[in-house]
Amino acid sequence: MARKFFVGGNFKMNGSTEQIKKIVSGLNNAKLNPEVEVVIAPPFPYLALAASENKQSTVAISGQDTYYKDNGAFTGATSVSMLQDVGATWVILGHSERRSLFGETSEEVAKKTKYALDKGMKVILCIGESKEERDSKRTFSVCSGQTHAVIKALSPSDWANVVIAYEPVWAIGTGLTATPVDAQEVHKQLREFLTTNISAEVANATRIIYGGSVNAKTAPDLSKEADIDGFLVGGASLKPEFIEIINV
Ligand code: G3P
Repeated sequence: MARKFFVGGNFKMNGSTEQIKKIVSGLNNAKLNPEVEVVIAPPFPYLALAASENKQSTVAISGQDTYYKDNGAFTGATSVSMLQDVGATWVILGHSERRSLFGETSEEVAKKTKYALDKGMKVILCIGESKEERDSKRTFSVCSGQTHAVIKALSPSDWANVVIAYEPVWAIGTGLTATPVDAQEVHKQLREFLTTNISAEVANATRIIYGGSVNAKTAPDLSKEADIDGFLVGGASLKPEFIEIINV
């Protein structure tokens, strides 16, 4: 089945009122490929601004994290209902920076994913191995383990609202983009893993996107690979080339 191409922009801890307005205005004024689903994830303080400024029907707004409880004594956290209240319909979960810098476990990522889906959010689920894990040939065991923790928490129908982002940690922010062949190999293995552990239907329908130093130069060849269904873009999503990546 044809999977709709998906391009996410993860702004990470970057932006200002002026910068967010400029980025969204650039997207509003661009001719975007109507067949590409676009999601932008500004930092929490700018979500409402991005949602109110956005004029493109193919662009949606995402949080960068959330928690698996609703409003309450969880200092620093942003609840699903707050994300929805300011116009976000997506949320990025399990990003490697959340895992490495904030100690997030795959079990916590699974709980957040299930909670967010049950509340009507759509989820970009991030997985990926470190350089050490890659060098010791543990890429698939790490990525399948991260994915399996979520498979155990979700029902098969939940996956209709999940996009998996394979983001090798060694490629994030380094300029060392994975080659199309290497990325395709992992994506293919992940899709086979979904077939074995959920169903062929879910595996064929689930978008598996690549993240890690994607830019206007590397995107075209990556996009030609059969199991690469789009991108999760960091640094380049803050630049005009993000539009070239969307229209790859
Ligand atoms: O979530 C996307 C991000 O981790 C990729 O970052 O700057 O390598 O595109 P970057």
